[in-house]
Amino acid sequence: MTISDIPDSELQALKTRYEQAGQGHVLQFLDQLAPAEQRELYDQLSAMDVERVNQIYTKAIAGAEAASKDQEAAVEPLSEDVFDSVIKASAETRNDWETLGLKQIAQGKVAVILMAGGQGTRLGSSAPKGCYDIKLPSSKSLFQLQAERILRLQDIARQYKKPGDQSEGIIPWYIMTSGPTHAATYAFFKSNNFFGLKEENVIFFQQGTLPCLTMEGKIILESKSKVAIAPDGNGGIYAAVQNTGVIQSLKERGVLYSHCYCVDNCLARVADPAFIGYCVSKNTDCGVKVAVKTAPEEPVGVVCVRNGRYGVVEYSEISQEVSEKRREDGSLAFGAANIANHFFSTEFLERVPSFASELEYHIAKKKIKYVDLETGEQIAPKTNSGMKLECFVFDVFPFAKQFSVLEVDRKEEFSPLKNAPGAGADCPETSRRDIIAQHIRFIEAAGGKVAGENVDDCEKVQFEISPWVSYAGEGLRDIVGGKTIQVPAIIETREDLIRACQ
Ligand code: UTP
Repeated sequence: MTISDIPDSELQALKTRYEQAGQGHVLQFLDQLAPAEQRELYDQLSAMDVERVNQIYTKAIAGAEAASKDQEAAVEPLSEDVFDSVIKASAETRNDWETLGLKQIAQGKVAVILMAGGQGTRLGSSAPKGCYDIKLPSSKSLFQLQAERILRLQDIARQYKKPGDQSEGIIPWYIMTSGPTHAATYAFFKSNNFFGLKEENVIFFQQGTLPCLTMEGKIILESKSKVAIAPDGNGGIYAAVQNTGVIQSLKERGVLYSHCYCVDNCLARVADPAFIGYCVSKNTDCGVKVAVKTAPEEPVGVVCVRNGRYGVVEYSEISQEVSEKRREDGSLAFGAANIANHFFSTEFLERVPSFASELEYHIAKKKIKYVDLETGEQIAPKTNSGMKLECFVFDVFPFAKQFSVLEVDRKEEFSPLKNAPGAGADCPETSRRDIIAQHIRFIEAAGGKVAGENVDDCEKVQFEISPWVSYAGEGLRDIVGGKTIQVPAIIETREDLIRACQ
């Protein structure tokens, strides 16, 4: 297929549309291109809604201006009634939440939605983040850890099945990818046999993309025949679940609740029954997990109330004075750090289109390769040359009917992989360290001990327990109580654990 298959009138109509939208420059090099490249550009431009792109730009600019004027307008901390804590709750309450969550899982009412469409630019790997090897003793990737947590949880939940219930208690895993991550993500799952999950229960869907724009709102050409595009942010999930049949699939499977999380959190408690049970017990349609913000200057978004509605304020949006405010007990008033773990009822996901036009777009300034419109040369800039436009997953909070927040223990649930090796924070070394430290805690909490070389250095010690054996520390006491495990010990099965304890 080349451009010669396109009637002249259609090509002309496309040119006119882009010119009228003030974006005619994207066709500037058309005559210099080979016929196949002309066709590529034609296809890309005809699939793009250029008027919508302009509207999004205008809205994003207006939103950024309003935010800078109205910085702290009516920002309040969360009130107690939306806020519970797994750390402060009694063992009985925690157990009630967990049991309720496991019952939902056993009845097939729970799905997991993974946001894995990001390009991971800071990490600097060319493969999708979920494929990354954080150098665990087992060499498992982030995807594999998450898959094994799902498998283990399905097993645990089976014990909560009601007699006569026909449900298989499957937790379907919906994986959101994007243009840049889709093919590699799918190929990785396929070549690893879906890590033991049934292929039919791992469903891939792609989020949308938007063109990258100059600071003045002009569409950027990456090459003479291609517009620079980027995924539309993790908030692209809402349009994607509508447009790709995910909602339909959830309904067909009888799923009422989804746990949605980011691929780069190696400690993510996938389909966490305590969180599910907590949100179900509060009749929640949209919920989020938070962790205690460690210091006023920590660069995290915090969940709060803004102009009377729930939302997230970014670190950069509040003054030092506000970020330093404390409650009577000394804790930070704005201390509910957003760890991007969400609960959605299927009904809520279905309702998003009714308020989608009110959702914000955010500007992310980036170094974007571009073609110089005068010389036709491609430039790889050293400073920010343009913007990506993104929706954020938390932008829907203000529209929840019943919003709930659960505080969790950061060291058990949150260790994001953002930065390249050696960065010292949120990097592969800290991911490995935090998982292994947790596994050692699991053994100690079950009355055992881990001993031997490097036990005090979780970046090096050769110790690991597979999620197949324990999801969150359960099921270990009978075997490890009173025992010492000598490293190296890579525990893949209960049999490995029994052997390691002899
Ligand atoms: P980040 O905002 O940290 O982006 O994503 P990133 O792509 O992982 O890394 P950088 O900023 O390029 O270095 C947080 C989560 O949101 C997902 C990511 O995959 C990650 O799980 N995400 C981000 C999407 O699913 N789609 C997007 O368009 C952006």
